[in-house]
Amino acid sequence: MGACRRSVFLSQIEPDPYKIRLMDLNPIHFSKFGQKMACRSGIGQLMKDLADGVEGQSVFMLGGGNPARIPAVEQACHAATQEILTQPGALEKVLGQYDPPRGNTELIEAICGLMNQQLGWDIEPENVALTTGSQTGFFMLFNLLAGRFERGMKKKILLPMVPEYIGYTDLGIEEDLFIAYKPKIEFLEEHLFKYRVDFEALKIDETIGAVCVSRPTNPTANVMTDEEIARLDDWARRQGIPLILDNAYGLPFPNILFTEARPCRSDNTIVCMSLSKLGLPSARIGILIARPEITRAIAEMNAVITLSPSGIGAAIGTHLIQNGRIMQLSRDIIRPFYEEKCRHALACLTEHLRGLPFAVHKPEGAFFLWLWLRNLPVSCEEVYQRLKQRGVVVVPGHYFYPGLAEPWDHRDQCLRISYAADPKTVETGIAVLAQEVRKLYA
Ligand SMILES: Cc1ncc(COP(=O)(O)O)c(C=O)c1O
Repeated sequence: MGACRRSVFLSQIEPDPYKIRLMDLNPIHFSKFGQKMACRSGIGQLMKDLADGVEGQSVFMLGGGNPARIPAVEQACHAATQEILTQPGALEKVLGQYDPPRGNTELIEAICGLMNQQLGWDIEPENVALTTGSQTGFFMLFNLLAGRFERGMKKKILLPMVPEYIGYTDLGIEEDLFIAYKPKIEFLEEHLFKYRVDFEALKIDETIGAVCVSRPTNPTANVMTDEEIARLDDWARRQGIPLILDNAYGLPFPNILFTEARPCRSDNTIVCMSLSKLGLPSARIGILIARPEITRAIAEMNAVITLSPSGIGAAIGTHLIQNGRIMQLSRDIIRPFYEEKCRHALACLTEHLRGLPFAVHKPEGAFFLWLWLRNLPVSCEEVYQRLKQRGVVVVPGHYFYPGLAEPWDHRDQCLRISYAADPKTVETGIAVLAQEVRKLYA
């Protein structure tokens, strides 16, 4: 029946649910859209691995995108929720009505106030639209700006540097939505390297609908410099297309950056933010800041797809902004917390892999280590499977290259390791990983 024409998945251990259904029911034919979206994807398997881990099957979860549990953040969210519960009529208002398609008006106004005061921006509510998590925002944006156009024209989203976020990979309604470029690799002190945008290689023309980067980058922990961002913005602007900045881990919140960088915005950028990595992934609040014609289009798409974004997530977010906690937590708690976790994880990895030909991308933000196992004798998928058998979940690196057509050995030699879990889990997981990797090199 061809329901699962494309089969991109990380784990092959479990039976395919589509095949089981076929044995006792008439086949259901999926549309092209269904075939593309409803089949196993890298991000789907990642989210499943994450849920399995949470339910206790996978013990050492170094794989998912869950933020760490930080007591001070949890207390602040608890207090914000408590306020909603105790103010007469507040909970009923939050739960009992749809917000406008653009998203909760109070949160949008609070965001404008925060950005204008703290960063000196000059945005107004018409520059902001909320989405049901920023993932949904990327789905809308990418398909708004790229895909099939009039007169048979096709446009793509240009990723100036891969590895890039696995969650972009399957977002296109059309096939081949991305075109991507390899970075330059700069070797730093022992066992560290950094990716740099290879500006000489980039090509832009009327077949590109937008340029997109995550900063900090998931999976590599790279933070593109202010100069790199300014150059990309200028380059995109001259072609008349926007630069999408995925700021899920960035400034001013949740501020998971360990290097100096300025929050970037211009009239040509679409800045995408989120409450998830702050500690509220289930609030499902994505924040998109752009020129009004873009935010208006997103609001219209919200109406069609979800009617309106989550009101309960917006209410908690509004409290955290209005009482000043979001900035204080990001600056004083979240950044130092992850910086310390990063230092610990890097020390463990360096210790356990001593003597092996490895390198780690300089961790400048987010909560991942991007491990490069140089001249790895097997694929990174094979390493992932072996680790999973031993209860350690990481993410194999080959899924982080959406749009890269040319072959590249490097692609099969990297793993993404999250250090958001508690230190014991991280340490033990890394020790097991090192044992398996050592066997492979032996
Ligand atoms: C770089 C990046 N962008 C966007 C997202 C989507 O986050 P959310 O939909 O929870 O806002 C994630 C989640 O892991 C991410 O890592």
